[in-house]
Amino acid sequence: MQFELRLSVAAVLAASAVLAACGQKTETPAAPAASGGNAAAAPAADAQVVKLASVAPMSGSQAHYGKDNANGVLMAVDDLNQQGVTIGGKPVRFEAVVEDDAADPKQGTAVAQKLCDSKVNGVVGHLNSGTTIPASKIYNDCELPMVTGAATNPALTKNGYKTTFRIIANDNTLGAALANQAKAFGLKRVAVIDDRTAYGQGLAEVFAAVAKQNGIEVVSQQFTNDKATDFMAILTAVKAQNPDGIFYGGMDAQAGPMLRQMEQLGLTTQKYFGGDGICTTELAKLSGGSKPLLNVVCAEGGASLTKMPGGLAWRERYEKAFPGQFQIYSPYTYDATMLIVDAMKRANSADPKVYLAQLAASDYAGVTSKISFDETGDMKNAPSTLYQYVDGKKKAMD
Ligand code: ALA
Repeated sequence: MQFELRLSVAAVLAASAVLAACGQKTETPAAPAASGGNAAAAPAADAQVVKLASVAPMSGSQAHYGKDNANGVLMAVDDLNQQGVTIGGKPVRFEAVVEDDAADPKQGTAVAQKLCDSKVNGVVGHLNSGTTIPASKIYNDCELPMVTGAATNPALTKNGYKTTFRIIANDNTLGAALANQAKAFGLKRVAVIDDRTAYGQGLAEVFAAVAKQNGIEVVSQQFTNDKATDFMAILTAVKAQNPDGIFYGGMDAQAGPMLRQMEQLGLTTQKYFGGDGICTTELAKLSGGSKPLLNVVCAEGGASLTKMPGGLAWRERYEKAFPGQFQIYSPYTYDATMLIVDAMKRANSADPKVYLAQLAASDYAGVTSKISFDETGDMKNAPSTLYQYVDGKKKAMD
């Protein structure tokens, strides 16, 4: 009972964070009094404040992903405050700082600079590779650790930045898994479309390369952008090449309408491949019940909720706190937050420069997986999973 009440407070806070789409919003989830009282776990009033930021698109057509990301951080912060964490001998009160980068690279770097200047203690984000890659340089320059649970372009961890960490598989894994599935389906001719973002383009390139190695012909390559909603011209060109599969590198805000337009053009038998960016709850809604949703195969850089060590119980708690808001990345942003705090505890310090070494040396049993890093900050042995949509719901293929 107490738990439900506490999380519903977090849900209200998350909603208010979304409303405050522009500008920084500091959240102090669930004061103990509001949670039904838990004096033992209550951080002292004079506790040291540790700020943990969530950065993702909170506005625009990708706001549903951002909200899900922020919810994971809010839930972790709430749990930590209930636990009553002590760092360096002092009780800590955690605060979530929810920022909006609007999936825009320029806004992403502006937010990163703001978080450096305001001296938050750690960053969970960003979501899009297109914002995360340029932001990672800013965080490295100010020595502020960032852990993404969503950005999958392999280049993110290739700059030698000590402050960059990722806790999911990258697009080399996801693109190859999808192209191997295309081969397993016996496909011969695929069309490849991408949104020209760092994510969409990178993933499309991996898919096309592995598809070719697998003896599949890439019969058409088309480009759109991450704001588009009309794909009729592209799809007409694709249809003319008579493919038996279509790959889309991009997000669900484009994939949803694209599936509807495929139905209008009679492209109803082709398999439709995409990465984690289309692998959301929202895709079913955005595709408006069109037939091609049944042909979707998407890849996610983690285990399915059923196979995650704490997945199903966690998902139930999330649903109570944030009904109907689950998309894809929140279990990872929850773990990313916990992981940062675990490093702070082991370092006896919430100072980013001090706990960074402990973060790099993590060996953390999270909700999603056991998390440790290679020397580049990529997760070791990250699992991946392919999904289809059955009765409008995402279902793991394994
Ligand atoms: N995985 C997607 C990206 O990297 C969200 O942009």
